[in-house]
Amino acid sequence: MAFIEKIKLQNFKSHTLFEKNIPSNNIVIHGNNGIGKTNLLESLSFFSNSKGMRANKLENFLQKQNNIQSEFAQAECQLKQSNYSTNISYKIYKQADQISKNFFIDSKKSSNLQIANLVNFIWLSPHMDKIMYEEGSIKKKFIDKIISNLNQDFSRYLSDFKKLSEERIALLTNSHDIKWISIVESKMAILFYLILIERRKKIKDLNILAEEKLKLFSRFKINISNELEKYLFDEKKCIIEIEKIFFNNRSLDTSIKRNTFSPNTDRVTFFNRTKNLNSELCSTGEQKSILLSIILAFGWMYKQRNIQFILLFDEISSHIDEKNMENFFTEVAKFETQAWYTGTKKNIFQVIDNKAFFIDLA
Ligand SMILES: Nc1ncnc2c1ncn2[C@@H]1O[C@H](COP(=O)(O)OP(=O)(O)OP(=O)(O)O)[C@@H](O)[C@H]1O
Ligand SMILES: [Mg+2]
Repeated sequence: MAFIEKIKLQNFKSHTLFEKNIPSNNIVIHGNNGIGKTNLLESLSFFSNSKGMRANKLENFLQKQNNIQSEFAQAECQLKQSNYSTNISYKIYKQADQISKNFFIDSKKSSNLQIANLVNFIWLSPHMDKIMYEEGSIKKKFIDKIISNLNQDFSRYLSDFKKLSEERIALLTNSHDIKWISIVESKMAILFYLILIERRKKIKDLNILAEEKLKLFSRFKINISNELEKYLFDEKKCIIEIEKIFFNNRSLDTSIKRNTFSPNTDRVTFFNRTKNLNSELCSTGEQKSILLSIILAFGWMYKQRNIQFILLFDEISSHIDEKNMENFFTEVAKFETQAWYTGTKKNIFQVIDNKAFFIDLA
């Protein structure tokens, strides 16, 4: 189990200097709007993704005061793991006209990936609520992110497919080299197949873990479908079918300068197993619970693989009633890992009162 026992932020957004020893596995950061609660979680999320949980540009992390931007922003954490302790940190800094970043492990220059070998951060923030009410492709992107975190190859499949798609369109519009177009389409078809298979494998794992592990909280099932479904059990047949569709789409794709057939044709939906209803027909709170449950199932995927992780929950209590909140805390406790929560009100966290460390940012 990995947990942060000390945190220090310098010039990170609104935090000029923030330093705290953390004596607990549950941390509740509370205080009024704009006091810096989310910024604090964001500083931790940066260790796992250098855009942070709010997908910021690097320059936005540097503190701005009276229109003057600080020269650097820095975060440092003492990370405790079983019987040893590691210092992980990063510095975002201005260099000439550029903003750069460096990660360190025990003062030695390092990378996000090396830090991921020590600890990963999983987060949920209010802007992710839109996953539940916006159109289907955002659900697929969310699931793709989870899968990418579990399998580095998967993000490579996605980016390679994108590059080849661009190459195909360029070839179709400019060179008309039929032989080369076919080669590109064959490569794309293999990646297409791999993406579809990996999505289904990981979604199956998430569904199984949700059923096995989430006894108290919202029960969900992720569904995925594609017109290729009936071919998926036969790799060769499926790849040939994909190549056929690419071939038939050549003139259409040339005219609109876009690949109409891609792994984006996968449709991902969420199903509420308690209600036997698709998530679109669920209430706001029920939808939020599904989202929280998927995050919990993701946590179980990490736990099953012995990957160390820390949870960051920004304002999760919005739309969740007291009983559900209590069940949620119980589910999180089963991970036996550190969880950071934020909230404008302290009373939501009453049920974990004696187990939590409260930070009042006021
Ligand atoms: N680069 C920056 N430099 C200085 N302040 C910043 C910077 N970026 C954002 N801020 C400010 O940091 C403050 C705290 O933001 P944060 O999102 O952490 O608030 P919060 O406590 O989570 O509030 P809420 O309860 O509304 O979610 C905001 O007033 C925001 O404008
Ligand atoms: Mg906030």
